[in-house]
Amino acid sequence: MSLLEIQNLTKSFGGLKAVDNFSLKIASGEIVGLIGPNGAGKTTIFNLITGAIRADSGRVDLDGQSLTRFKPWDICRAGIGRTFQVVRPFMNRTVLYNAMVGAFARVKTPEEAEARALETLAFTGLLPKKDVLAKSLTLPDRKRLEITRALATRPRLLLLDEVMAGLNETETQEAIELVQRLRREMDVSLLIIEHVMEVVMTLSDRIVVLHHGEKICEGPPESVCSDQCVIEAYLGDDYGAACN
Ligand SMILES: Nc1ncnc2c1ncn2[C@@H]1O[C@H](COP(=O)(O)OP(=O)(O)O)[C@@H](O)[C@H]1O
Ligand SMILES: [Mg+2]
Repeated sequence: MSLLEIQNLTKSFGGLKAVDNFSLKIASGEIVGLIGPNGAGKTTIFNLITGAIRADSGRVDLDGQSLTRFKPWDICRAGIGRTFQVVRPFMNRTVLYNAMVGAFARVKTPEEAEARALETLAFTGLLPKKDVLAKSLTLPDRKRLEITRALATRPRLLLLDEVMAGLNETETQEAIELVQRLRREMDVSLLIIEHVMEVVMTLSDRIVVLHHGEKICEGPPESVCSDQCVIEAYLGDDYGAACN
């Protein structure tokens, strides 16, 4: 059985079909990349999976259980964590406090939440900054905090929305290593939205390409990046030529 199964998901905003009959399966342990031009509907798919907005039709199952009627916090408890494209920590609170917010999804007491938050901060490398206010963090550290908060909810599936955007070469490399450790050591499966093709190619077992809300291609990184439809819709001719 798939860990996540999305069937025929559709969502319109007024006259615009943001997500059109989208289906996807993710197996346990997989890293799947979701790419496509701006406005393709990628973030909307995350919002539908996590219950932030309701689909017009279609369904999402986690481990064979329908999430369709679940509220966002139930979906989080069921095992799906996410980061936000525009990060929004509690700016005037510490890094530790922000990580504890995630931990409270699973534990009841402040002591348990603190222990879990500290453990997660150690994993993501933010422990030395636990007492710093979120607003004082650099962009890469804010992204890291965003991952920490989501990870502290102990997800089985983690949805990452452009967590590498704006990072330099070294920071990107560190973020790639963190994602690989997530799968290896935390047993987390991932669906990642990412614009930097090198990153998506490195991390993904499989890539799904979205265009005007529709899936136009799906497959292993090598075959997706040489697909003519994908080159026309997204990558551009130069990339396609470099890939072949
Ligand atoms: N809450 C909303 N209300 C109206 N339109 C929306 C809303 N969310 C997204 N859209 C529109 O849906 C389309 C897909 O957006 P989005 O999923 O954010 O794309 P992507 O993440 O691929 O860049 C865009 O045209 C966007 O303007
Ligand atoms: Mg987006």
